[in-house]
Amino acid sequence: MSINNFLERTSVRSFKKHKVSKKDIDTITKVINNSPTSTNAQQFSAVIVLDDKLKDFIGTNNWNQQHIKDSNMFILFIADRSRSKTIAKKLKTPEDDQNYKTNEVMRSVVDATIAATYTQDALIEMGYGVTMVGGVYAFGHALDKKLNLPEESMAVVGLSVGKPKTIEAVKPKMNKVFINKFDKMENKKRITQYNEASKKYFVDERKRDDWLTGMKKASTKDSGMAQAFKKGGQYIADKAKKMGWGVTVLEIFLMISWVTNVPSYCSSEVNTSITKLFFLASSTRWKPSTMNIENLSLYFFLFNLAYWTIFSFCKDVIIFILYRHTKKRTY
Ligand SMILES: Cc1cc2nc3c(=O)[nH]c(=O)nc-3n(C[C@H](O)[C@H](O)[C@H](O)COP(=O)(O)O)c2cc1C
Repeated sequence: MSINNFLERTSVRSFKKHKVSKKDIDTITKVINNSPTSTNAQQFSAVIVLDDKLKDFIGTNNWNQQHIKDSNMFILFIADRSRSKTIAKKLKTPEDDQNYKTNEVMRSVVDATIAATYTQDALIEMGYGVTMVGGVYAFGHALDKKLNLPEESMAVVGLSVGKPKTIEAVKPKMNKVFINKFDKMENKKRITQYNEASKKYFVDERKRDDWLTGMKKASTKDSGMAQAFKKGGQYIADKAKKMGWGVTVLEIFLMISWVTNVPSYCSSEVNTSITKLFFLASSTRWKPSTMNIENLSLYFFLFNLAYWTIFSFCKDVIIFILYRHTKKRTY
């Protein structure tokens, strides 16, 4: 890609009607597959969406963004641990190491992000316009089902792609580059300078908030953006667990606690205190694996409830049968 393509790149959100040729799909497939990945583990996958109904589904769920619906194709990049997980099962890698798991989630997300950028650059070279779409994980669970994504994968970013109808001017950008060392004071100065310098673009020409006000509004608790980010965070937490290496340390302990406690179920107090102890231990020691601690404690509670209900019911039935049986024999 020529240097001017990088310097003049802008997000393109208005597309002409255009059918992407098989040749272009083949080329872009090769580009995606040649994207660099950490240790060549290739822990990402991409789904090229050409179907109008699927693009509509993605656009509608993604703040109803028209450019997604109008795109000639939408490419979704997912961090994908399904292949590695299958391989790891055979290799016996450190499956219960929480740090290892967290690291792998990060690596796969980085792979997917780099692949998206690599693909964007190639598409621009091929005459397409592109807008990155980052909100895909805010409705990730619905997307999983609709696109049949593997359980151990996570939607990371999408690309709205199409032949450009209109191209916007390059937005003013802040200088985010430091030489040798990061400079906090300089950084603060640049934020203020950028906000002032970009007012002409954002406030005068676009009739929008200045950059700082926009950023503040987006991060307020009840903003649509903050709500979506919250939903996105939940999806990531759920997925990070599934993308890990099998059963976690916490789960093993919970299972052990359950099995070893079965005899003590006659004493609910003993059981409750042991359960509490395990949750206390898990919330202090295995921080990364406590993302779903609320869910796990709920499952555990329901499991106990079911156990007790069935146990009491069976006990009553047995007593009832014995009583009837005894009565018959006596009289
Ligand atoms: C991770 C990521 C997610 C983005 N998500 C969206 C999106 O959902 N919708 C959209 O219109 N633009 C989206 N963008 C584009 C940004 O709004 C855009 O890059 C930014 O405003 C700067 O403008 P420029 O790309 O024209 O330089 C996203 C960009 C990135 C990097």
